[in-house]
Amino acid sequence: MFGYIRVFSMISLLFIIGCAYFIGVYYSHTATNNIRDMIAINSSSLGQGYVNAVWTKHHRTLVRLSRIPPQKWERYREFQRFRRDTVAYFAQMPVNEVRLYLRDGAFILSTNDAKQKTRKPLETDYPAFQQASNGKMGMDIRENVVFFNPQYQRVTGTLLSSFEPIMAHANDRMFDENNTNPVDTVMRIDYDITEPWQRSISLQYIAMFGIIAVFLLILGFLIFFSRRAEAIIAKQHELNLELTATAAAAESENRDKSMFLANISHELRTPLNAIIGFSEILGTELHDKLEMVHREYIRDINSSGKHLLSLINDILEFSKAEAGKLEVDLIELDATKMVKNSIRLMIPRADEAQVTLLEELPKQAFIIHSDAKKLKQVLLNLLSNSVKFTPQGGQVKVTAWNDQARNRAMFVISDTGIGIAPKDISKVMAPFGQVDSELSRRYDGTGLGLPLSKKLVELLGGSFTIESQVGVGTTITLDLPMRLERTNVRT
Ligand SMILES: Nc1ncnc2c1ncn2[C@@H]1O[C@H](COP(=O)(O)OP(=O)(O)O)[C@@H](O)[C@H]1O
Ligand SMILES: [Mg+2]
Repeated sequence: MFGYIRVFSMISLLFIIGCAYFIGVYYSHTATNNIRDMIAINSSSLGQGYVNAVWTKHHRTLVRLSRIPPQKWERYREFQRFRRDTVAYFAQMPVNEVRLYLRDGAFILSTNDAKQKTRKPLETDYPAFQQASNGKMGMDIRENVVFFNPQYQRVTGTLLSSFEPIMAHANDRMFDENNTNPVDTVMRIDYDITEPWQRSISLQYIAMFGIIAVFLLILGFLIFFSRRAEAIIAKQHELNLELTATAAAAESENRDKSMFLANISHELRTPLNAIIGFSEILGTELHDKLEMVHREYIRDINSSGKHLLSLINDILEFSKAEAGKLEVDLIELDATKMVKNSIRLMIPRADEAQVTLLEELPKQAFIIHSDAKKLKQVLLNLLSNSVKFTPQGGQVKVTAWNDQARNRAMFVISDTGIGIAPKDISKVMAPFGQVDSELSRRYDGTGLGLPLSKKLVELLGGSFTIESQVGVGTTITLDLPMRLERTNVRT
């Protein structure tokens, strides 16, 4: 994922360099165009002003002079006057030098005396000159050229030359030989644009490198933070692996313990069955031959054995559930019948405790697909608790119904017993948890019934909810699927 960020950054770096280059070029293009436009306006107004102020005044002289080659014009005073007026006119203008050429490229004059001396004709193959001699303004920019400034010093810089065509009226043209071209003279105005040119180039580079620098900065941050994120994630991953390993170890330890309990319980049951069986035989076969006190002992051995067996059975069952070793045996069973059976088994104890057993069951058959043995075990556990913890004259009631809308089988076991305080609920739901109050001390038990019941209900895909109020009673709700499919079973 962070590899992608790097690839992405590299691609965007290339992209940004391209963009920066484009922006720089575009910027310099715009700047150049701006300089050109401004100078074009300036030149044409300068040219126009010059024509009005100087050119028109001397035009007749010039037309006359045009019969002889310009090199010889110098001899004429009229020409010298014309040149003086020209130099004077441009002296105040923000130009470097102005030159005049005939349309064919022959040099007439320059405002710069140093240049005057060379009298070098212009290279007429300048496209800009050609353009001007054909009546359209032309322009030419040269970088790093050597030229004379108005103080006659040689300088190196950027020179912009604009070539302005000067036109005359049709009847006083200097070139009138059946020619339709109205251009008389080409005026070349040189501007020293070294500074603005340099500035525009610097700005171009600043823009380009500025964009790249900002991007690199952002990229740097991105890479920095992505590296940090990567490090954090790697660390967390490591931590997760450690946690997973610890959890797996704990789970396996827990499983090992449960396995051990399951094994030991199993081993305990065999001798216990012998104790119970033989004490029973002793009790019946030797009944007449034994003294009263010995008969009592044997009955005690038998009942203690039975108690221990039920305890071990519970432990075994619970350990198996913990170890994920319990298996469900799914059949179609009649839930109504099962509730009735369980209640019937509870009658002797209820009678003894003087507790009334009630039932509220659906009239029609109530068939569910579940594990009959486990469900019955849960019902008996809960019923025996209710009977055990309900004082004389109380009631224990089982309600069952088919919640067709949710496709669930509902069982509610409620009593009017001693109840459980809210703070004790988690305790009684934990293995071996019993509430040791004045009221409940009288009752014996192992404290495995509730947690085991909850485990079994969950194994059958259901939920186990307990609600209780001290002195009012306890209600346990089992919410089970109507049809438990094997794939749903959690083992
Ligand atoms: N119906 C109930 N009314 C009041 N207290 C109850 C009820 N059912 C269970 N308890 C409390 O929860 C404890 C744990 O119950 P259980 O796990 O079945 O173990 P046991 O019945 O062996 O004590 C009981 O000792 C009792 O304090
Ligand atoms: Mg119990």
